[in-house]
Amino acid sequence: MTLNTQVAIIGSGPAGLLLSQLLNKQGIESVILEKHARAHVEGRIRAGILEQGTVDILKEAGVGERLHREGLIHDGIGIQFNGTNHRIGFKADNTGRTVTVYGQTEVTKDLMDAHASRGQEPFYEAEEVRISGIEEGSPALHCIYRGAPLAVKCQFVVGCDGYHGISRGSIPSNILQTFERVYPFGWLGVLADVKPVSEELIYNKHEDGFALASQRSPTRSRYYIQCDANESIDNWPDERFWETLIHMFGPEVGSQIETGPSIDKSIAPLRSFVAEPMRHKSLFLAGDAAHVVPPTGAKGLNLAASDIHYLTEGMIDYFSTGTTSGLDQYSSRSLARVWKAIRFSWWFTNLTHRFPGDETHGMGHKIQLAELDYLVNSDSAKASLAENYVGLPF
Ligand code: APR
Ligand code: PHB
Repeated sequence: MTLNTQVAIIGSGPAGLLLSQLLNKQGIESVILEKHARAHVEGRIRAGILEQGTVDILKEAGVGERLHREGLIHDGIGIQFNGTNHRIGFKADNTGRTVTVYGQTEVTKDLMDAHASRGQEPFYEAEEVRISGIEEGSPALHCIYRGAPLAVKCQFVVGCDGYHGISRGSIPSNILQTFERVYPFGWLGVLADVKPVSEELIYNKHEDGFALASQRSPTRSRYYIQCDANESIDNWPDERFWETLIHMFGPEVGSQIETGPSIDKSIAPLRSFVAEPMRHKSLFLAGDAAHVVPPTGAKGLNLAASDIHYLTEGMIDYFSTGTTSGLDQYSSRSLARVWKAIRFSWWFTNLTHRFPGDETHGMGHKIQLAELDYLVNSDSAKASLAENYVGLPF
């Protein structure tokens, strides 16, 4: 079977779904090819902090209703070290903006429901997706769908297929530049139906490593602890996780942590990665296909949203007036914002994690404590953290 569309998208994560939804609002047709089944994509537990700009785009895409009802507005975070938690307020530190706690899983579900309700679901379980015709000016996607070949002819291909996707590989190697740092540790995350320990998130630096107290709702908590890069989840029964978490949060906060059976437990590697440029001819990259941040700054989903914002603007201009300037500027506009979030996430990770080889109470640890002490006592340092955490303007 051969389909004709304006924009062919690979991947139905938040980037692909949001792009297709925004294009549809403007009468621009798109088709999404997704390798996995809907249930698999929906089942992935990811971060849960939305910048105001991301909330605004989701509203614009027509999926703001449940987010508005169930999302929790936060106007500060806690930074804990030496056993004491220090609040950094966003409003007090003059950004005037807030973030919304709403799981990426829920964002994905809302976008998938919106697609389903207009009868335009992604082609789930599309196998062997490949791109053709980028160099020749005749872009198309090809895959095996339900056992038969499917071709999608289009004007533009957008790779929203995440870090492990295939689209980046279609940019010739003499043009594509990549930058990567893999951190020598991971995050072990647990989701549990217990009351969050604090109203706001707490980022905690302990001499044994980093821990984070996050949440999804007033009755659902998300906690993380730093772990070895090659750690196996089998070594972490719930009891060991809670014991370690409580120890790391110390007597003041740790003693208040409610424990319960985990409903999800996973280990995520930490990486900073950027691919440049984010466009080659009629192929565009967006979201994790082009850049990955460690989760410390909660920027992954928000960067996908800003990419899609720039790309949608460019495409709307192109399809309504034939102007290419928005598309021509897509890569440089996106990357300018991406690199600042890469920088922030890198900084926040370095400030709060224990690096293998660092001696307990050694120089690295002392420098981190000095910077943390400076951060929570300096109005300008707090304002800078707040400004980046709530999200730099699109
Ligand atoms: N063919 C088709 N689909 C593919 C292929 C392929 N070869 N490879 C990957 N995919 C799909 C994946 O199954 C996934 O559903 O592309 C999708 C990519 O989604 P995400 O990884 O969620 O990436 P993105 O939409 O850019 O979202 C960015 O989500 O992954 C988090 O931390 C990330 O928060 C960030 C946000
Ligand atoms: C989460 O709730 O999963 C979360 C929150 C903040 C982060 C990372 C993850 O920085």
